[in-house]
Amino acid sequence: MSAYDLVIKGGRVATASDVFASDIGIKDGRIVALAAGLPAADADEVIDATGHWVLPGGIDSHVHIAQPSGEGIVMADDFETGTRSAAFGGTTTIMPFCLQQKGESLRAALKAYQAKAEGECYVDVSFHLIISDPTEQVLGQELPALAADGYPSFKVFMTYEGLALDDRQILEVMDVARRTGALVMIHAENYDMIRFLTDRLEQEGQTAPRFHATSRPIVAEREATHRAISLAELSDVSLMVVHVSNREAMEEIRRAQAKGLKIMGETCPQYLVLTADDLGGLNMEGAKYVCSPPPRDSDSQLACWQGLQQGVFSVFSSDHCPFRYDDPQGKLVPKGRTSFRWVPNGIPGVAARLPILFSEGVMKGRIDINRFVALTATNHAKAYGLYPRKGTIAIGAEADIAIWNPELRQTLTHDLLHDGCDYTPYEGLEITGWPVTTLVRGRVVVRDGRLEGRKGHGLTLTRPLAG
Ligand code: URP
Ligand code: ZN
Ligand code: ZN
Repeated sequence: MSAYDLVIKGGRVATASDVFASDIGIKDGRIVALAAGLPAADADEVIDATGHWVLPGGIDSHVHIAQPSGEGIVMADDFETGTRSAAFGGTTTIMPFCLQQKGESLRAALKAYQAKAEGECYVDVSFHLIISDPTEQVLGQELPALAADGYPSFKVFMTYEGLALDDRQILEVMDVARRTGALVMIHAENYDMIRFLTDRLEQEGQTAPRFHATSRPIVAEREATHRAISLAELSDVSLMVVHVSNREAMEEIRRAQAKGLKIMGETCPQYLVLTADDLGGLNMEGAKYVCSPPPRDSDSQLACWQGLQQGVFSVFSSDHCPFRYDDPQGKLVPKGRTSFRWVPNGIPGVAARLPILFSEGVMKGRIDINRFVALTATNHAKAYGLYPRKGTIAIGAEADIAIWNPELRQTLTHDLLHDGCDYTPYEGLEITGWPVTTLVRGRVVVRDGRLEGRKGHGLTLTRPLAG
């Protein structure tokens, strides 16, 4: 029997803290050796990574897949296509949201969601819980039990019809999170400001997709971010402010961190490379970019880069939330043509996330390779309880690895992404560097840009409480 199932030879390895030349020996899905000159004869298989980066596979802790999305609307990705796309983009674990609908038991929602994933995944998945109906039963029984069972991250919304919680309800969820050691993730936008502006815009006949951005101004995000942080301060709970889009919200998080509060921040590719102008396409083209918060302006892009560089944002996620464009069950749902209010919110990005940050960040000198690894893998694993099992290259860690060709130049086109959508909002972006080969627990899922993995290799993971 060979010492190694697989050896990756000759690559340059980067973790969140180090860069070193090393071969990697893998056995039974884990990294068992890190050394120069591991003998090829001791391995069943050898991958030559000369001239390539060998990085921890990406962890994308903010992904929406097969999520109920309103009447007549269907998400473009199920677990098969969503995890396939993740693998093509160098991501080896995704963390989708199990959505509790009003009146539904969380446990039942989780059971149904888990069934959708079973046997379908190319990469590993681990679920967060979205709380839309914090009843006594949910707060008193289900949430504490589910946190202990391996689902210790709860997302709450301050906006969206049917999902928004009021401050009292958010406090109740935060209180459970504090008692159980769970992390609260929050979508911070002021619901009433948005409703007020939306009504007014509609009265004025301003209903095209571009008015989505007008209806959700920076002040609505800044106010809600400040309030969310205040609620977390009162509750003494750890909070992740997700998909931060602009300087004012980022500065709220920075101030909270400077005060010593347990506040973390996340931003996403759309806030680095898109602006509100992208929503201004002719006819319904702007619908391709409708997401919340909306992309902003060039100063907001700069602020998001600064947040990544200076550690205000510890994680960079995709907020992958795919709806097909040319589809009456997607962005062109008939009601959406009457007002931006009804255009499904969300854009795809699970495969584009890493290439965009690598190309725009590492290759353009905005961040170094260690920060890239931290922002895309290690910090996700640490924040959500997957570390050191995942998120790094170390002896004993699972062999979730992406092998990058740093010189491969490509124009980003939808066919590179292998998702269930029919467009990418990043079409035409010039990208340098690409994850050509992706391994999940030691098995090759994508090799040299071709799918080799088997559906069902991806596992659904539970996570321990932070304690
Ligand atoms: O527009 C977005 N971001 N859709 C996904 C749902 C969410 O708010 O995270
Ligand atoms: Zn959100
Ligand atoms: Zn989201």
